[in-house]
Parts: sequence; structure tokens; C-alpha cells
Amino acid sequence: MKEINLTTKIAVYLLEECSDIEKKLIEAAKSATLKAYAPYSEFLVGAAVLLENGDIIMGNNQENAAYPSGLCAERTAVFFANATQPDQKVEAVAVAAWHKGAFTHDVITPCGACRQVLLEVENRFQSPVKILMYSEDGVYVVSTIKDLLPLSFGDEMLK
Ligand code: THU
Repeated sequence: MKEINLTTKIAVYLLEECSDIEKKLIEAAKSATLKAYAPYSEFLVGAAVLLENGDIIMGNNQENAAYPSGLCAERTAVFFANATQPDQKVEAVAVAAWHKGAFTHDVITPCGACRQVLLEVENRFQSPVKILMYSEDGVYVVSTIKDLLPLSFGDEMLK
């Protein structure tokens, strides 16, 4: 028997340590939480996608009384970006969450399904996507979704 160790390095920044464009993207994600439709969980998530041309596309979670029919903020934003600007590479995605009257102190990280979708985006554009995960106490940053999705299943398996 042998063991494989998987390690992930996550950079943790204070908001003021982020670059100007990263701050702008995080602010967009935070403001997108205000328009979330989350009457069931009352957990309002905002995402902002930075495209190669500089455009910032916002999205938020859209819930449904039949729970699985809703969609997370990250996928709402990324799918809209890809639907409207299919030739624009996705460079980064920021995500923030508002719950019980405040932005969360725990870092908000993409769910498993959103990680899989973000992997597809990386593979589609053949380019890593930086993920900025916001909390009131700090921002987790990874330079590729692969850091959040080890042993991933991607299109290369189908070739
Ligand atoms: N949610 C997101 O939008 N993004 C995440 O990364 C985690 C969870 C949403 C789904 C649901 O509307 C609510 O947060 C509670 O799970």
C-alpha cells in the first residue's frame, strides 16, 4: 500500500492587501448579495466574474420553493457571463455572503457543483480562474479551481 498526500495552499489576505481590481471584484460580489433571492435559507450569496475584457458580471443565488430548482450565485454569474460573452475568458470569480444582517465572518466557498462548473470554465478557456472567497475577517485566494477540487473529473477523461 502506498499513500498519496494532497495539499492545498490558500493565500489569506486582508481586504486592504488585495489589488485594486480584486477589491473591485469583491465589492461587486458583496453588492450582488443585496439582490439575491433567498427567502428560504436567508443566506444571500453574491458572485462577481471578471472577464478578460475587464467586464464584471454579477450574479446571486436564486432559490425556489422546490429547493433543488434554485441555483447558486457562482453558477448564476458564470452561466450568464458565458451565455452573453461566450468568447471572453473568465479570469477570476469573487464570492461573498450575507447572513443574519451581516457579511459572514466565515469564508464563503463554492459548493461542490459550482467547483465542477468552474473547472469546466477553466478547461473551456484553457486558463486558470482565480477564486476570491470573502469573509469579514479575510479573503481566501486560490489561483485555480483545481486547488478546491482535487482528483477532479474533467473533459480530458472523455478523450
Ligand atoms: N449558495 C451559493 O449561492 N453559493 C455557495 O457557494 C454556497 C451556497 C446558496 C445556495 C442556497 O441558496 C443558499 O446559499 C444556502 O445554501
